[in-house]
Amino acid sequence: MGEGGGFGKTILFGEHFVVYGLPAIASALGNTTTAKVEKADVKGYELIDNRLESPGYKVAKKEEYEKLIENVINFMGVKEGIRITLGGKLVAASGVGASAACAASLARAINDEFQMDWDNDKINAAAYEGEKGPHGTPSGIDNTAAVFGGLIRFKKNLEGGPNTIEKMQIKAPVEIVLADSGKTSSTKEVVGDVRTLKEANPTEIDPVFEEYEKLAEEAKQALLDYDLQKFGELMNKNHELLQKITVSCEELDAMVLTAREAGAIGAKLTGTGRGGLMQALTPGVELQEKVAKALEEKGFTVIRTKIGGA
Ligand code: MEV
Repeated sequence: MGEGGGFGKTILFGEHFVVYGLPAIASALGNTTTAKVEKADVKGYELIDNRLESPGYKVAKKEEYEKLIENVINFMGVKEGIRITLGGKLVAASGVGASAACAASLARAINDEFQMDWDNDKINAAAYEGEKGPHGTPSGIDNTAAVFGGLIRFKKNLEGGPNTIEKMQIKAPVEIVLADSGKTSSTKEVVGDVRTLKEANPTEIDPVFEEYEKLAEEAKQALLDYDLQKFGELMNKNHELLQKITVSCEELDAMVLTAREAGAIGAKLTGTGRGGLMQALTPGVELQEKVAKALEEKGFTVIRTKIGGA
């Protein structure tokens, strides 16, 4: 039996803007999706999905995941029937890079089962093909974080050449809180809506992208300087820009507000938006606990984790 894992991720800075070749920062999460692959007497594949999920996620994403799995299998040239078993501690939800973690773990498990000896770059290419199922035209940031882990700065090459992937090192890991809106959104749909909005209103939307580009440079520097206060302020500004391109929603804005009122030094949506997750920067376990409790009291499910670890 072949086995493999893929990291969950959170985007600290730059979702959606990254699709247009602007730099973004993502961190892998400690929790992973695991895949087991074994040859089986079935046509194509059989899927046993044991992952924990945000309510309704798997049903809502069924077709996208079928495409994801087919894409990875075809890209890796698997001709035999296989049984795929998914598991691991990453809860499948919008915003944590669940599909990318699945694609990465599946590619690794196929690589292991068929002894293909693919390196991380080729595994990443396979995971990217998988991501086209749920994302349509993914930037590649989610699968890159899922395969390589750690803290990365990512810039998509719009000409089709290799993307820029920089590993970032920070002085020490930082506590964050993720909170789930309980709403599943479609990345393909939301990314498509942003494109339509951008094309229909260039005078209004292009300046938002220009402002983001400036913030992205400051954010990189703030993180490298370990100036968390500054980075938190920039996260807040990033959330405002995401509101302007219409990818936030009532639940996300409510969670952002709750987190800030409880003392988070920055809070923004993370990932696709219009549902999924909110992320708050809460250095120190005390502040992390305070913010997490405030969100839990409002009925949101939270994840206490860290960014910038190994
Ligand atoms: C989704 O996790 C991130 C988006 O920027 C899409 C992408 O980068 O492919 C919304």
